[in-house]
Parts: sequence; structure tokens; C-alpha cells
Amino acid sequence: MSRVLLASCGLVFTLLLILFLMFHHTHAGSMHSMWSDDDIAVLRSLRFSTQDVADKNRSNELLFREDAIELGRRLFHDTGLSGSGKVACASCHRPEDGYQDTQSITYQLDPDAMHRAPGLLGVALQDWFFWDGRADSLWSQALVVIESPMEMASSRLYAVRHLCTQYGGNFSELLQSCRGVDLSAVPVHASPRVADENWRNLGAEQRDKINKLFVVIGKSIAAFEAGLMPPISRFDLYVDALVEGNHARAATLLDEKELAGLKLFLNTQITGCINCHNGPMFSSSGFFAVATDTPGKPEHDRQRGVGILLDSEFNCLKWDEGDSGGCPKLQYIKNDPAETTGAYKVPSLRNLRHAPAFMHDGSLPNLGAVIEHYRTPAIFPLRHIDIRPAAMLPHQREQLLAFLNVLGTGVSRQEPQ
Ligand code: HEC
Ligand code: HEC
Repeated sequence: MSRVLLASCGLVFTLLLILFLMFHHTHAGSMHSMWSDDDIAVLRSLRFSTQDVADKNRSNELLFREDAIELGRRLFHDTGLSGSGKVACASCHRPEDGYQDTQSITYQLDPDAMHRAPGLLGVALQDWFFWDGRADSLWSQALVVIESPMEMASSRLYAVRHLCTQYGGNFSELLQSCRGVDLSAVPVHASPRVADENWRNLGAEQRDKINKLFVVIGKSIAAFEAGLMPPISRFDLYVDALVEGNHARAATLLDEKELAGLKLFLNTQITGCINCHNGPMFSSSGFFAVATDTPGKPEHDRQRGVGILLDSEFNCLKWDEGDSGGCPKLQYIKNDPAETTGAYKVPSLRNLRHAPAFMHDGSLPNLGAVIEHYRTPAIFPLRHIDIRPAAMLPHQREQLLAFLNVLGTGVSRQEPQ
């Protein structure tokens, strides 16, 4: 009797063990196969791709010209463009750190408003430039910097003179029009922004020639920047594996914590991250108020950015060469202070690895603090805010953090498709 009992107990135990092992074995795979077709479509839309570079840079006819890319690469590293002769783009956008500034956390835009230098990997896939979006093309962004007293403190005449004397010989095809500019008889500094009187004295024809060469500087630098792309991350390979239906491979690419973090990221009920951080760069290209500034304190937010952009002589309404598709961006620009006050550009989440601090002003020291910010954002009673608190438990915050860390870390430098 007892022997029968013992034998059947053993049998039940063995069956249970087999069942457990079967479940355990398929569990990891099943976590990865539980995505619906709709989920996979969303994941696909986040997979990194360079497909849009040409489309987003239609106003730059030099984008794919080899000589412009090479000229742009040299100009990016050239301190000779700056007023002091000591500062290059690469001084603040350090190539070894994802083209951002890891030395000083913020850079003074004006004495009251500090902005952090963002990384430039994938920058050519953006629609707007600077945290307040005060430039509408990558090439015109560079021109703002050269003439900004706080950055390169130069002038367009000075920059064009440097361009023609240093590069005119080696890049003669690109810089043919240097020949038409009288560089000897004119003062060192002249631009509508710096040494205004010198600029006016140049005469309309010279001014026009100098402007066109100044634009060549911007377009060449932009052509170089368009080649700076973030590395493929484990997340991208994960999406590839899912799309192929290869769940076994998918299971090797994200661990359970990272996968749970991804699910939270996509969850519009709990976090809503995906509402703003979407597309291949994890940025919707929009401007939102996420409670990162102090009401009443002077700010370079989207409200100010729109004003500067509409005034800019190099915006797409005012400077249109040839068929670049018109300027719907500015024709339909959102310019309602109720929406733009306290709003900043949604940054990419693919450049976070080298970031010394986070948000436009570098006010949050690490990603943990960013997640905490979204859990308990400041409340501004009199102002519109685009987020509501994301109710996350401590282990969920850890999961989200694990996922964000996957995005910032590349698995290879191979060129994306
Ligand atoms: C003194 C430091 C400094 C120098 C020099 C500098 N930058 Fe920047 N850069 C910054 C800061 C700070 C920002 C962010 C400013 C803002 O958004 O208001 C920025 C923003 C940018 C952006 C916008 C990125 C984005 O995601 O919106 C681009 C592109 C860029 N810089 C390219 C350049 C180029 C090209 C040069 C050289 C012509 C250059 N920078 C020189 C500090 C610098
Ligand atoms: C309503 C749109 C919106 C939502 C929702 C949102 N973000 Fe953001 N995010 C932004 C904006 C705008 C900024 C830039 C704010 C600033 O610089 O002041 C930002 C900044 C960040 C940064 C800093 C990046 C950097 O380079 O400094 C991280 C990280 C981030 N968000 C992650 C998340 C996560 C995780 C979630 C979900 C919990 C989330 N965001 C939800 C709009 C949003």
C-alpha cells in the first residue's frame, strides 16, 4: 500500500518537474513572442534608420557632395573661424564624447539662461535645432553659432575671408565665387550682427556675395554633420529579430528587466514616454513643457525661439535657393504662448551615454533623476504643462532605467541601413 503511494507520489512529482521545466524553458521566449502585430509596428517605427536624411535636408544641395563633406569636416575642427582664433565647433562638440560637451555641463547662452550642448549623433534627422528650435535647418544653425558673441564670436566677413584664404585653393570648384569677393580692402569684422557699420559700407553686391559664401560654410558643415550617426543599439537588433520572427535570438538581446522597461516606455497609461519620444531618434520633433524651468525666470524656451527664428534672414521663408519644397514648417508654425511657454524640443534618447547632465539646462544630474522628475513633476498652477505624473513603483523605475541605458549604448559602429 505505502509502496503504491510512494510510487504515485514520485510519478506526480516527476510530472510536475517536467511541466515546470517546460514552462521555464519557454517562458523567456514567450515574453518576446507576446508582442501583437500593432506592437511590432510601433517597435519598427523606433528602429534606427538614416532613411530621412535627404528629405530633412532638402534645402542643402551640398549634402552629398564629397568635397563639401571634407570641407565641412575641416571647418568643424577649425579654430580659425572663431573671433579669438581659439574655439572650434569641436571644442564644445567633442568627437570622442558623441559630439557633446562633457567638460562643462552648461554653456552660457545669456547670463540668465544656461543651455547644455547636446550631442550631434543623428542631428541631421531633426526638424529644428537648438533646445528652443531657433534654427529650422542644420546649415543655418551653424551660421548662428559663428556669429553668436557667446560661442564663436566671429562675423560672416571674417569667416568668409578665412574660408577663401585657407580653403579657396584646395576646394576651388566649391569656392569659385571667392574670386568675386574683395577681401583685401574690407575691414576684418562685418556682419549685420557684428560691426554693423562696416557691413553696410560694403555695398549690396559684396554683401550678397559674402552671404552666399557664408551659406556655403553652413551647408558644408551640415554635410559633414549629416554623416554623424548613433551606433546601432541592442534595441535595434532586438526589433530586427522580432520582425524576422526569431524569438530565440530576440531573447538573447534584451534581458527581462530591459524588456519590462521597454514595455513601460511604450505604456501610455503608466508613463506615456512614447507619446513624445518616438520615431527612429526617439523624438517627435515637437516642443513640450515638461516642467523643467522656473516660471518668472528669463528663459530661452520655444516662445523666444519662434521669435528669433521668424526674424532670421536664413530661415526657410527668407532664404530659399531652388526647389527645396517650400517652407510649410514656418507657414504653419505653432506660435501660441499658451503652448510654447516653458516648452523645449523633445531631445533624442540615443545620445545619452556621454551626457554629463540632462535637460536643456543640465539641471538633472543623471537618468535616475530624470525618471524621478517624470514621477513627480513640479506643478505650475498658472501654466500649461504637457505631462502628468507617471505612477511608477521603485522596481519599475529600475526597469525603465535599464531600458534607457540600452538605447544609449551601441553594439557596433557598423553603418545603419
Ligand atoms: C562654446 C561652445 C560651443 C561651440 C563652440 C559650438 N557649439 Fe554647438 N552648441 C553649444 C550649445 C550650448 C548648444 C545648445 C544651445 C541651445 O540649444 O540653446 C549647441 C547646439 C548645437 C546644435 C543643435 C543640436 C540640437 O540637437 O538642437 C548643433 C547642430 C551645433 N551646436 C553645432 C555646432 C557647430 C556646427 C559649431 C561650429 C560652427 C558649434 N556647434 C559650435 C555649444 C557650442
Ligand atoms: C509631453 C512630452 C514628453 C513626455 C510624455 C516625456 N518626455 Fe522626456 N522630454 C520631453 C522634453 C520636451 C524634454 C526636454 C526638456 C528640457 O530640456 O527642459 C525631455 C527630456 C527627456 C530626457 C533628457 C534627455 C537629455 O538629453 O537631456 C530624458 C532622458 C527623457 N526625456 C526621458 C523620458 C522618459 C523616460 C519619459 C517617460 C517617463 C518621458 N521622457 C516622457 C518631452 C517628453
